[in-house]
Amino acid sequence: MNPIQLFDADSSTYTYVLFDPHTRAALIIDPVDEQLERDLAALREYGLKLVWALETHAHADHITSAAKLAELTGCQTAAPQGCGIGTASVQLQHGAALRFGGQTLQALHTPGHTAGSMSFLWQSPDAAHVFTGDSLLINGCGRTDFQSGSAKDLYHSITQVLFALPDATTVWPGHDYQGRSHSSIGREKANNARLAGKTEAEFVALMDALNLPKPRRIDEAVPANLKSGIRHDADGAWLLQPRPAQGVHQGSYAGDVTPQLAWQWVQSGQALLVDVRTDAEREWVGSVPGAQALPWKTWPGMVPNPAFDEGLRQAGAAGKKLLLLCRSGVRSIAGAKRATELGLQAYNILEGFEGDLDASAQRGHSGGWRYHGLPWRQS
Ligand SMILES: [Fe+2]
Repeated sequence: MNPIQLFDADSSTYTYVLFDPHTRAALIIDPVDEQLERDLAALREYGLKLVWALETHAHADHITSAAKLAELTGCQTAAPQGCGIGTASVQLQHGAALRFGGQTLQALHTPGHTAGSMSFLWQSPDAAHVFTGDSLLINGCGRTDFQSGSAKDLYHSITQVLFALPDATTVWPGHDYQGRSHSSIGREKANNARLAGKTEAEFVALMDALNLPKPRRIDEAVPANLKSGIRHDADGAWLLQPRPAQGVHQGSYAGDVTPQLAWQWVQSGQALLVDVRTDAEREWVGSVPGAQALPWKTWPGMVPNPAFDEGLRQAGAAGKKLLLLCRSGVRSIAGAKRATELGLQAYNILEGFEGDLDASAQRGHSGGWRYHGLPWRQS
C-alpha cells in the first residue's frame, strides 16, 4: 500500500498522506501552505480523518500549512525536537512512534541537512516506506551549508541510519526536480552519485564545493515554519475571508466561511444565520441566538422538510446573505446549494455547530461554533 504523493510545483516539494485503510485515520508529512485546499480536498475525496500533521524539518523553501490544518481538521502537529518548532504539540525524539488508526510511523533522527532533521519509517500492511525529507533525495541529498547543516552528520545519517534499512524499503523524498517519484534504499546505496562508493572525506569535500545560491524564500519561510506556518500578520485575516466552495461543490454556492466570520457578518447585520438541524438537535445540543430555524430534514424519520424552499425564500426576503449552519458542515452545504438554486446568496459555515469527530468519536473538541467560543444557548 503506497502513500498518496502530492507535488507543489513552485517549490518542487512532495507532501505525503498516509492512512489506515480500516479506520481512515490519516497523517500528512510536509504540507505546503499554498496547497492547503488541495490537501483538504484529497482528505475529503479519500474519506480520511487527519490526526497528525508533521514536518521532516524546518523548511527554507516553502511555508508549512500544519497550523492551518490543525485549525481546520482538529489534527495534532508534530515536529522533530531539534528543529525549534515550538508550536508543534508533540516534539519527536529518535525512535518515537506516531499512531494513526492501526498504523504506526516511526521517527528516525537523520541530522545533516539541518541538525534536527528526521526521516519517518512506515511499515504499511504490505511494504516498508521511508520518508526522507531533504536528507536523502533520489540520486542526491539535501544541502548542508546553512541552517545548522553538517556534511559529516549527513554522511553518517545516510550511510548508518537510512542505508541500514532493508534494500527493498521504498524511498519517498522531500523534493525531486526531475519528475521522479520514489526510489529504494537498495537503488540509492548502489547508484546515488553523491554517496555510492564515497568515503566520508570525499562526500564532505563534494558537499563543500557545491556553492549553491541562498534559497529564495529562506528569510520568510524559516521564521514562519518555526511557528508551524502561523504568520501573525496574515492568519487572523485569513480566518475572516470567505473561500470558494471546494471540489465537487465548486461553483454550486457562494462559498465557505469560518464560524468566526459568520458571527461577524451576523453582528454587522449583513447576514442571516439559518440553522438547518432538526428541532431535536437544537433543543438538546444548543442553538445560536437569533438564528432562523429551518430543518433540512425533520424528525422522526429524517424525511426532507417539505417547507424548506418556502422557509429559504422567507429568510432571503430581506436581501441579506444566508449563512447555513448544521452539526458538522454536511447538511449546510446541501442547504446552501438549494438556496443558490432558488437565486439566493448562500454560504456554508465550516465545521458546523459541533465540529468533526475527534479520535475518541466525540464532537465539540475539534472545531465548530461552540469550540470557537461563539455565543450559543441551550433550552
Ligand atoms: Fe530543506
